[in-house]
Amino acid sequence: MARVAIVTGGTRGIGEAISTALRDGGFTVAANYAGNEARARAFSDATGIEAYKWDVGDHEACLDGCARVAEEVGPVDVVVNNAGITRDGTLHKMSYEDWHEVMRINLGGCFNMAKATFPGMRERGWGRIVNIGSINGQAGQYGQVNYAAAKSGIHGFTKALAQEGAKFGVTVNAIAPGYIDTDMVAAVPPPVLEKIVAKIPVGRLGQADEIARGVAFLCSEDAGFITGSTMSINGGQHMY
Ligand code: CAA
Repeated sequence: MARVAIVTGGTRGIGEAISTALRDGGFTVAANYAGNEARARAFSDATGIEAYKWDVGDHEACLDGCARVAEEVGPVDVVVNNAGITRDGTLHKMSYEDWHEVMRINLGGCFNMAKATFPGMRERGWGRIVNIGSINGQAGQYGQVNYAAAKSGIHGFTKALAQEGAKFGVTVNAIAPGYIDTDMVAAVPPPVLEKIVAKIPVGRLGQADEIARGVAFLCSEDAGFITGSTMSINGGQHMY
């Protein structure tokens, strides 16, 4: 029977590419989304992948949503924590709400999803968790103390949970995308984005599929010896 994968924020942008890559890799995929109904419907119509609505920043909603997927589709073997938002602004202009909302969704979402699914993976002796971090969690970014802190937190979360999952056959890894051609990056003011792209050695934005292929590999049987690692996919923008 096909293994079951949940992709959070899985109906748009990088998440959409991950959902379809996992489906093409033989997984039964449930794509979570938070609010954009029209986009989710169009995604399901185009891909045949079922979309499930809940807020990953809401602990109870995650427990309920994952239970619903398990009941309707089957036990959850793979989670890709991709859902994330930006609320950019320099610290002196950033509200507490902008700080908190980014932490609640981007970092809190990883905890909530793991709480809902990691125990089952551990009991069944197989699992894959892939957390989508960011180059900006590795290197920092002007105007993003909230996002950089949450993404940096994801990298620590990944390494800690990897240690807990290792002896149960559950791998936990992160991917740190650079600037990818998505709605999120398109929202960066054009003059700022131009300067950023000028610093990418390969000379272009990345494509969502280039992240999705990395995720699909980390979720495969072949990647069973890789855990606690971060795969940087950023066109050479940050190397360390
Ligand atoms: N380093 C130092 N100074 C900088 C700077 C930098 N990187 N960027 C801007 N500044 C300076 C400017 O030169 C300007 O200085 P002066 O007033 O002396 O001229 C000052 O900071 C104000 O800059 P802005 O005009 O940009 O200020 P703003 O308040 O209008 O905008 C901002 C601030 C919203 C943070 C804007 O700069 C911005 O959107 N930056 C891009 C942030 C970014 O990269 N977000 C990524 C989103 S996509 C994503 O996050 C996905 C992923 O994982 C990669």
